[in-house]
Amino acid sequence: MEIKTLPVNKATLDKYCLIPSYFEVDSVLNVDVLNDGFKGMKFKEEKVARPYRKNYDTEGEPFFWLNFNTGNWVAFLGYEGAALVGGLTVACKTPELRMLNGRDDLADVWDIRIHPDYKHQGFGTKLFQEAVAWSRSRSFKQLCVETQNINVRACRFYLKQGCRLGAINRFAYYSNPKERDEVQLIWFMDL
Ligand SMILES: CC(C)(COP(=O)(O)OP(=O)(O)OC[C@H]1O[C@@H](n2cnc3c(N)ncnc32)[C@H](O)[C@@H]1OP(=O)(O)O)[C@@H](O)C(=O)NCCC(=O)NCCS
Repeated sequence: MEIKTLPVNKATLDKYCLIPSYFEVDSVLNVDVLNDGFKGMKFKEEKVARPYRKNYDTEGEPFFWLNFNTGNWVAFLGYEGAALVGGLTVACKTPELRMLNGRDDLADVWDIRIHPDYKHQGFGTKLFQEAVAWSRSRSFKQLCVETQNINVRACRFYLKQGCRLGAINRFAYYSNPKERDEVQLIWFMDL
């Protein structure tokens, strides 16, 4: 795969948005809160009664990212010949981005997506490794990435990349009735 490194702007996102970002939800990591949380939490992977497809691009305004100042961000687009197989965007050094917690030593995998025709061929891993190398070369100390308990494949993918779970927020999506039951999981990697 050839990886192109691009600024995050309208022209890049016009290409990026050609890659769909959906997955099938057939199981979820349900969170058991022990003793109202005093004794911690426990994940239980459970099959869902009715599997469904979740599409990140149809939740909210697509590519609202340009509402942020993306001057420090970077996008990686992966090609096999002329075919666009995947994209990954790193957000960093953006004080208004809550995900970064005001830290300028933390980079965030803001988005990663592999075209459905090219999943399970190692392309996601290659793009993730590119993001790690880019972040290391710019002296970031940690990389983080947000996902949800309904995206079990992504959780396993981040684990396999060497991330560990840093935060579980059961109420992160509370104000959105469609996503209220999803649990936010934030994975971190030391660089
Ligand atoms: C999550 C996502 C980015 C992973 O990308 P991917 O390219 O499929 O990931 P990889 O191929 O590197 O790894 C996935 C699996 O394929 C396997 N794999 C890698 N190369 C392979 C090959 N040549 N042949 C067979 N399997 C292979 C990996 O071992 C891994 O297996 P595992 O799931 O059993 O551990 C992708 O599924 C995706 O785009 N999902 C939809 C959008 C999304 O959920 N994004 C994350 C938002 S938080």
